[in-house]
Amino acid sequence: MSQRVLVLPGDHIGPEVVEQARRVLEKVAQDFRLALELDEGLIGGAALEASGVPLPDQTLEQARQADAILLGAVGGPEWDGVERELRPERGLLKIRSELALFGNLRPAILYPQLADASSLRAEVVAGLDILIVRELTGGIYFGEPRGIRTLENGEREGYNTYVYSESEIERIGRLAFESARKRNGRLCSVDKSNVLEVTVLWREVMERLAADYPDVELSHMYVDNAAMQLVRAPKQFDVVVTGNMFGDILSDAAAMLTGSIGMLPSASLDVNSRGMYEPCHGSAPDISGQDVANPLATILSVAMMLRYSLAAPAAADAIELAVSRVLDRGLRTPDICTDKDEKVGTRAMGDAVMEALATRELEESA
Ligand code: IPM
Ligand code: MG
Repeated sequence: MSQRVLVLPGDHIGPEVVEQARRVLEKVAQDFRLALELDEGLIGGAALEASGVPLPDQTLEQARQADAILLGAVGGPEWDGVERELRPERGLLKIRSELALFGNLRPAILYPQLADASSLRAEVVAGLDILIVRELTGGIYFGEPRGIRTLENGEREGYNTYVYSESEIERIGRLAFESARKRNGRLCSVDKSNVLEVTVLWREVMERLAADYPDVELSHMYVDNAAMQLVRAPKQFDVVVTGNMFGDILSDAAAMLTGSIGMLPSASLDVNSRGMYEPCHGSAPDISGQDVANPLATILSVAMMLRYSLAAPAAADAIELAVSRVLDRGLRTPDICTDKDEKVGTRAMGDAVMEALATRELEESA
């Protein structure tokens, strides 16, 4: 039986990077004889323009039928004036929530070839390999009540609710402990339990779970300190687990350690490892339409998809190796380019990955 993949290009550089990633997916599907059925749908601003909402029912239905989803990026300044409920980002938040994709894995790996592209000294980041496990369907992003209200004195007040139930914390905690177990066995839980009760409970649940994972070493850190430690000595981290908002912020910081957010893939999983895969970068309206966006984060997201949702680890390995080969050749999109490198655009980078995949086959058949 074939597996279904839904492709949601989204806005701005989304379609540009997804086009390259899709080629790569189709190529490995052929090479590794994977029976995949690819479907395409609308989300974000593109959906808003076509149908008036950022996540049409049809897209949601397509998503529910899929085994995995590949997403580009959503949003752009042209929708800044749109009412809050209809903003492109709402489409993304809604699909995460409707599909219960609570577990967001954001690996920050520094490719040795890119050590000079990091804003930190090479020795601080060399060999960096962190996994941020971000809770994605709860916390202050989704807590109720929320809104902007007018007080009796006529002043307006904005409010959100930061809430986590024990079961939500336990679910993300287990995913993080399991991930740490498969890596170097160290888990750092990030909270703000010196101030926020919700994270006092968070810390308590993490402590309780630790008893089930004696092989994992659990530590805790306040989020402000974690931000500092990430830029001071990032290699101290193996797996980091945290809530939705802290994870959003820390994962951008971690991404930049690796030279460019244009390199970082992500997976968002439900309890059955059905998932949505997207690059960590956004829609980057400032560079869209110029064939300069880095497609590697999306291509590496395809590798994560093959590994976590489509049970095709060999195809995932092949993609990761191909990316590494391309970097070895010195090919770089502008975001990761130094004086020594050869600057290429989005399409040419996609071409290079396709070539590297083809070379692998030649080597194997030789
Ligand atoms: C991310 C993005 C999203 C988020 C936005 C676009 C809603 O920043 O995936 O990190 O905040 O989760
Ligand atoms: Mg973000």
